[in-house]
This record gives sequence, structure tokens and C-alpha cells, in this order.
Amino acid sequence: MTQTSTASALALNGGTPVASPSVPFMAPKLHRQDIDAAIAVLESGMLRAAKNCEELEKQFAAKSDAKFGLTCANGTCALQLAYEALLQPGDEVIVPAWTYIATASMLAARGCKLVFCDSLEDTMQVDPADIEKRITPNTKALAVTHLYGMPVDIDAVEAIAKKHNLKVIYDCAQSHLATYNGTGIGAFGDACTYSFYATKNLGTGEGGLVTTNDETTAYDMGLFRSHGETEKYLHERVGYNYRMNDITGAIGLSRLQRLEEETAARRAVADKYDALFADIDAVEAPTRTKGGDSAWHLYSLKLNLDKVSCTRDDFIKALIAEGVPSAVHYPKSLTDQPAFKAHITDHPPVARRLATRVFSIPMHHELTDAQIQQVAEAVAKVADAYGR
Ligand SMILES: Cc1ncc(COP(=O)(O)O)c(C=O)c1O
Repeated sequence: MTQTSTASALALNGGTPVASPSVPFMAPKLHRQDIDAAIAVLESGMLRAAKNCEELEKQFAAKSDAKFGLTCANGTCALQLAYEALLQPGDEVIVPAWTYIATASMLAARGCKLVFCDSLEDTMQVDPADIEKRITPNTKALAVTHLYGMPVDIDAVEAIAKKHNLKVIYDCAQSHLATYNGTGIGAFGDACTYSFYATKNLGTGEGGLVTTNDETTAYDMGLFRSHGETEKYLHERVGYNYRMNDITGAIGLSRLQRLEEETAARRAVADKYDALFADIDAVEAPTRTKGGDSAWHLYSLKLNLDKVSCTRDDFIKALIAEGVPSAVHYPKSLTDQPAFKAHITDHPPVARRLATRVFSIPMHHELTDAQIQQVAEAVAKVADAYGR
């Protein structure tokens, strides 16, 4: 088939879409028992953080192999609690350019000096060698993200931290229940922060949680979460109101009971995708970190731009028309965000390149084998149509 005739078969150009109806991109719907758990709280009248939040903290920390868990209002607040407890204004902190903005912006909010480092093109996770190059005598901490749900090379990050006496904060907003060498990611670092935003693997609408294995850090974060209050109206420190409420806690706790099973289903989808995309030259499946078992919040492919005659944005436009929703995580390296203008010294090249190549495809626990096939078929069809 010539390129033009294949292009004319695209749904974008009037051809028949591969999937109709479209494959759902995510599956965030509540189950009956989640709704009942929320109703029970509403009926109790105990709306503030109470026993559901406490139980969620306990169970989530235990399932992540962390000692202490604290619920909070959202994942951004979780980062702020960790940064407030572990960092000081003026601290130099190394953070990947290839992550969601909050990992870095909350460092700026803490008054830290941001040093952006690069990521590895294959795993898309932080590059330990580049971290090492950027360490100065003023470096105080590493703030790294297990992006898309995939753990970073934790052994390498921890070794650098130990060698240079640095704190490590892991942004786990996308990596609930991910493991590294068989251990929950909560066992590592000084704090791990989570988001329970509506579309996350465990979604409560808005919500968050932070874990740590250090009692003092847990105590400090608990104070900052609630106006530094040690007794009723006695405020030992300046703090915030970053508390969760018990309706959210009940939904989270109810959903947590299914999270292991749903994560296993995501892992099975990822295995099937990996096998299917190995045969399509125009795209690269995400490489796994050695020892990492991802939570697969997102499955992000990379387009091989030398194998197609279109841009990534044109590619996903065609894919969406085929009934396969797609989104870009993320369209810019953080060093290209206007918000960080004052912090930029250079532009880590891999992060910039990834911003032109990545696109996420449907990933959730409800995808059927037929839908997985449709996704791969649509990617192959668009790749053929735009093939060089
Ligand atoms: C990596 C990462 N960090 C932090 C956050 C912030 O979480 P929230 O939206 O709950 O504040 C998100 C949410 O999208 C995220 O993906």
C-alpha cells in the first residue's frame, strides 16, 4: 500500500475507525461499596478527619512498606509537608526536569534553589549519573519522581544520597503500591508523597498521603498539617490546614481494598502492550527499571520521529480519531516552563526530547484483551499511514 492510500484509510481522513466506541482511557468510577462508605460518614455527621483517615493511613503505609502514613488534602500538600519537614529555604535540591510541575514548584514554594537534572531516554526515569554531575557542596536533597508509576533506580539514588549526605524525597503521586526489588517503595528515602486525585490509581477526587520511616519527620509533618497545634489552641509552630476529611478517607479506604488487584491487572495490560509494541518500529515501549515493578499509572510510548513523517501531535490526533484516546505527559520539560525562568541554568536534553516524543495510551484495570488489541492495531495503522 502506498503512503497516500494508507493515509486515506485513517479515520481522520474519513476511513473507518479501529475502535467504535472508543477505548476508555481510564476507569475512575466508584463502586457501590465506595459510595456506601461515603454515605456512612455523611450519616454519622463526623465529617472531619477521623477513623477512616486513620485507618487509611495505617493500611496504606503498611501496604507500601512504610512505618508512618499521614493523609492530607492532596498530593501537592503531601509534597509541601515533606519539604517543610525535611528542607530549609535556600537549600539546593536536585529535581528532574522530566516530571509533573508540583515536584519542582513546591520546592520553589519552600524557597529552595532548584537544580534540574536529566532523565534516561529508555525508562524516562531520573538519570543517576546526571544527578551525580550536578552535586555541589551546597546540595542538600534529591526530590525525584517515580514517573508514570515506574520506580527510579532506587539503589543508585540511595547510594548517591548516602555518599553526599543528602535527604531523598520520592514523589510517588503516580506509583501507589509500586515495588523495588520486591519491597514497597515506602521503605526508601526520607519521605514518599502520594496524590489521590480523581484519575490516580487510587482516586478520591482530591486527596493525598505522605509516608516516612522516621518518627520525628512524621511528628513534624503532623504538626505542619494542622497549624502546628500540640494541644487545643496551643501552636508550637507555624503550620497550615492540609487535612483530609473523613468522607474522602472513607472513599480512599474502600478503594484501597481493591488496589492490589487493580494494580495486578494494570501490570498484565502492560505486559501485553510490551509484546504488541515490540513489533511496531515507529514506537518504543517504556523500558522497565531493573528491579522495579511499576504501578503503571500511565503507559507512555515514545514515537520514533525518524520513522514517521508527522509530529507526535499529528500522530495522536489520528490515533484519537481511530477511537484510541491519547494524552501527552508532558508537552514541556520543566525547564521550558515560564514559572521556572529564574531557576534555569541549562536545558537537560533528554527531557526536552521526550517532550516531543511521548504519548500515553489507555491504561487501567478494566481493559479487555480486545481493547488492548484495538489500541495496538490503531497505533500500527497510524504508524503505517505516516511511515517514512
Ligand atoms: C508526579 C505528581 N506529583 C504531584 C502531583 C500533585 O498531586 P495533586 O494533584 O493531588 O495535588 C501529581 C498530580 O498530578 C503528580 O502526577
